[in-house]
Amino acid sequence: MSVDRSRENRIAIMASGKGSNLQAILRAAACGECPVDVRLVLSDTRDAGALTIARDADVPRVSSLNPKEYPDRAAFDVGCAEHIERAHCDWVVLAGYMRILSDPFIARFRHRIINIHPALLPSFAGAHAVRDALEYGVKVTGVTVHLVDEVLDGGPILAQASVPVREDDTEEILHKRIHTEEYALYPATLKRMLTSGFRVVDRTVIWNDE
Ligand code: GRF
Repeated sequence: MSVDRSRENRIAIMASGKGSNLQAILRAAACGECPVDVRLVLSDTRDAGALTIARDADVPRVSSLNPKEYPDRAAFDVGCAEHIERAHCDWVVLAGYMRILSDPFIARFRHRIINIHPALLPSFAGAHAVRDALEYGVKVTGVTVHLVDEVLDGGPILAQASVPVREDDTEEILHKRIHTEEYALYPATLKRMLTSGFRVVDRTVIWNDE
């Protein structure tokens, strides 16, 4: 599989929470650091901070869909996919999106869905990565940007950055330092994705600029 879509820079961002990664991407786009065109921000949570950030930044389409209005996960994901396709997005970027995606959605956007995870995968997959790393007692944790496949937090890795764990760290303090790394790594990885492109061999991402 080879991806070299340098002119395909339209992205949809899906977010459930406060949206600080969304904000970092929008900032990097606005100042020309990251060549993405954020066409759509989509949330599964009506009062997500991410929606306010997107509206304030004049993202052309900002929507929230209520999972309770759909019979099941797959139907909800079809609703999301239709929004994404209507906005002509080339990529789906997850930024704190807390729902597990259905297999048909993943297949529909194969190798075009990117996620950021607050740990060095494959360690500490799941929703409590920062807490789990701290409780395990690791000395180094970090951030992973990866392609999304059918295995939860298990897709091919695009980029990673490490964050040392300090003895007096709480979950909140450690997550703050991880966030700081995320705000740099996510826009930088999206930029590389669009400017260099990559291919996936087995489960290894090989960047075209390497
Ligand atoms: C980030 O730590 C990200 O790694 C994880 O969810 C968090 C989202 O934070 N997937 P925010 O909504 O971007 O502030």
